[in-house]
Amino acid sequence: TYQEWRNDSAAIHDPLSQLPTPQHPKIRLYNAEQVLSWEPVALSNSTRPVVYRVQFKYTDSKWFMADIMSIGVNCTQITATECDFTAASPSAGFPMDFNVTLRLRAELGALHSAWVTMPWFQHYRNGKRTWTVGPPKNIEVTPGEGSLIIRFSSPFDIADTSTAFFCYYVHYWEKGRTQQVKGPFRSNSISLDNLKPFRVYCLQVQAQLLWNKSNIFRVGHLSNTSCYETMADASTELQQVILISVGTFSLLLVLAGACFFLVLKYRGLIKYWFHTPPSIPLQIEEYLKDPTQPILEALDKDSSPKDDVWDSVS
Ligand SMILES: *[C@@H]1O[C@H](CO)[C@@H](O)[C@H](O)[C@H]1NC(C)=O
Ligand SMILES: *[C@@H]1O[C@H](CO)[C@@H](O)[C@H](O)[C@H]1NC(C)=O
Ligand SMILES: *[C@@H]1O[C@H](CO)[C@@H](O)[C@H](O)[C@H]1NC(C)=O
Ligand SMILES: *[C@@H]1O[C@H](CO)[C@@H](O)[C@H](O)[C@H]1NC(C)=O
Ligand SMILES: *[C@@H]1O[C@H](CO)[C@@H](O)[C@H](O)[C@H]1NC(C)=O
Ligand SMILES: *[C@@H]1O[C@H](CO)[C@@H](O)[C@H](O)[C@H]1NC(C)=O
Repeated sequence: TYQEWRNDSAAIHDPLSQLPTPQHPKIRLYNAEQVLSWEPVALSNSTRPVVYRVQFKYTDSKWFMADIMSIGVNCTQITATECDFTAASPSAGFPMDFNVTLRLRAELGALHSAWVTMPWFQHYRNGKRTWTVGPPKNIEVTPGEGSLIIRFSSPFDIADTSTAFFCYYVHYWEKGRTQQVKGPFRSNSISLDNLKPFRVYCLQVQAQLLWNKSNIFRVGHLSNTSCYETMADASTELQQVILISVGTFSLLLVLAGACFFLVLKYRGLIKYWFHTPPSIPLQIEEYLKDPTQPILEALDKDSSPKDDVWDSVS
């Protein structure tokens, strides 16, 4: 179904190459995105809009029109100044291991510019273009007992998972401490264990794409830093219960002891403060007057000798 187009030398020697070429064309490769963009050709003496035509070829193939039939995007005679191959359906762009060369020209009626040919690229290979892998997406962190559980999705979906795959690294650090790196992991769910409870940890996740056809790997961008506080683990909880109990008990003991010593030390003072002028209790006075009365037994019954001291205070 691929449609052949005129070859390079034919275009270069075409007498109708009268328009200026599109300027500053560039290919953007970010995650799975493949976008060719350029600057518009401005003609002062034309009322009709300039349109653009994009063609592509693989390693040793002929040139093909970038149209719905061939690659699934309409980039023939378009007024827009970009061609987004990612929007192509169903292929969603060129296969990532294909060696692709793109070219572009401006057209106006029967007139057209010379072709501008881009350097070839192979998405998985750095090629002559820079390809950027973004950070993992939808990062969710659940603080656990002395741990953090991190879940995320890949930067993009890999079409052919038999030759290329992602692995992940977590950069993490306790706030104010040095950074640690854990990885590589194949899973999209990572658990950081053995963290200190009740501490704030910050982390960044990073993807790395491995293409094992030629041992190529691309290190992705770090995700934004986010911080989380760990929770208590079971042993810490027990420790805390014990600590709080022991603490409260000791505090009470100390308070009681302090009171006791204060009372002992300042007994005289306390006596002085609470003292009513010394007087012989009425009953004793009566007893002294008449020692035959059985008052002493009655007094002995409801007060110990020690209490007598305090009785005199009260
Ligand atoms: C390309 O164009 C040149 C000159 O117009 C012609 O001689 C040649 O046969 C063409 N090649 C192909 C593959 O069409
Ligand atoms: C614009 O004008 C120039 C001469 O001023 C002429 O050479 C050129 O062909 C014109 N372009 C169009 C698109 O009419
Ligand atoms: C990709 O194709 C171009 C020709 O279109 C060639 O020069 C280049 O070496 C190829 N790259 C690889 C890695 O095969
Ligand atoms: C491609 O898009 C242009 C306008 O952007 C439109 O004029 C043209 O008919 C479209 N071609 C196809 C084959 O859909
Ligand atoms: C490439 O990776 C896939 C998936 O991990 C594995 O099944 C396959 O054997 C690997 N191929 C080579 C050539 O290493
Ligand atoms: C990361 O941070 C930058 C700047 O603070 C912000 O623009 C961007 O949207 C953030 N990315 C995510 C995935 O939250």
